[in-house]
Amino acid sequence: MSNTPRPAAWSRLNVFLHWTIVVLVLCQWIEGEYMADFWDATLEGGSIGTTTAVLGYGHIVLGTLVLVAAALRLIDRYTHGRPPHDAQEPKWASLLARVTHFLLYTVLLVMPVLGLAAWFTGNDDLAGYHAFLWNPLLALIGLHIVGALAQHFWFRSPALKRMLPGLRQSA
Ligand code: HEM
Ligand code: HEM
Repeated sequence: MSNTPRPAAWSRLNVFLHWTIVVLVLCQWIEGEYMADFWDATLEGGSIGTTTAVLGYGHIVLGTLVLVAAALRLIDRYTHGRPPHDAQEPKWASLLARVTHFLLYTVLLVMPVLGLAAWFTGNDDLAGYHAFLWNPLLALIGLHIVGALAQHFWFRSPALKRMLPGLRQSA
């Protein structure tokens, strides 16, 4: 994604944003059901309970933070570069990781944009596309976690250690 020289480690900001996004996506999972009710009630003019309203607005705020954090990660990755994929790893594994990372970034940016567009226009189709992307995102996250564990335990590459805040070497 960039021609910047490869650093030995991820920047502190990038590691912080990676784990921040993990926590935010977990929150979105919990709040998603409430947001769906909040959305229906907003469109149909039904009554909204306090919990649904608070978690619905929370969904909008935390979802927007995902958009900001993913964009910042991409800017950081572009300006600082990313550490290289392990040379010992088979080519197919590095390629699969690259494709998964690309798709993860795409969904992390497109999902909140669709959600915000639906919210500000009141368009239920956009909300539907937004909700539809949730299962593909879960599948990508699952593949990504299996990949990270395989890199660590099977290929014995440093990828997981350099993404863990306490274990990473400084850039
Ligand atoms: C990456 C960030 C986000 C994730 C992972 C996410 C995830 C989800 C999930 C899991 C649902 C429930 C889907 C269902 O039960 O069918 C949902 C619903 C919804 N979200 Fe988000 N969301 C994000 C950001 C946002 C943002 C920024 C907004 C802005 C307003 C938003 C607006 C909505 C709306 C309107 C619904 C209701 C969709 C419907 O019922 O058709 N989301 N979201
Ligand atoms: C919501 C869940 C997650 C999302 C959305 C996510 C997203 C991402 C993305 C987009 C990258 C690509 C970095 C880049 O090339 O710029 C990445 C890297 C990485 N992630 Fe995750 N991640 C998640 C959860 C996890 C978990 C639970 C683990 C650990 C088991 C993990 C381990 C890693 C590692 C080790 C890297 C660096 C790979 C490398 O250096 O080649 N991620 N993550």
